[in-house]
Amino acid sequence: MIAIGSDHGGFELKQTVIGYLEKKGIAYKDFGCYDKNSCDYPVFGKAAAKAVASGECEKGIVFCTTGLGISMAANKVPGIRCAVCQDCYSAKMTRLHNDANMLALGGGIVGPNLAVEITETFLNTPFSGEEKHCRRIGMLET
Ligand code: RB5
Repeated sequence: MIAIGSDHGGFELKQTVIGYLEKKGIAYKDFGCYDKNSCDYPVFGKAAAKAVASGECEKGIVFCTTGLGISMAANKVPGIRCAVCQDCYSAKMTRLHNDANMLALGGGIVGPNLAVEITETFLNTPFSGEEKHCRRIGMLET
């Protein structure tokens, strides 16, 4: 199960990525927002992040205009490693090295086709599991 969340600035891109998840048969839970009315990204970033941190959802994808504010909100939840990605290399590396459990995308930055490729890369790249990366990830929590 993938936790999804956005504010109004990421709403449209969220719908694009939801379309991709549905096409692939990937289960998701949308924590809002549910329309383009102006709203507060911390509400939706934290709601999606809490679902990932609790284990209800395996990973999360959040959206705002830049990906920045909503990633900051998600990263305030203990256990969350949310990476803003604007390219596939970053999406691959943040899975391999950081075991990122959430991805943030900016609706005003990334176009729909690239967003889908970034999402695909993020969801399909495993954590390397290397000892040095496990150690560094552990250091993030202290
Ligand atoms: C909303 O205008 C915008 O500030 C928000 O979507 C986000 O990009 C904040 O970081």
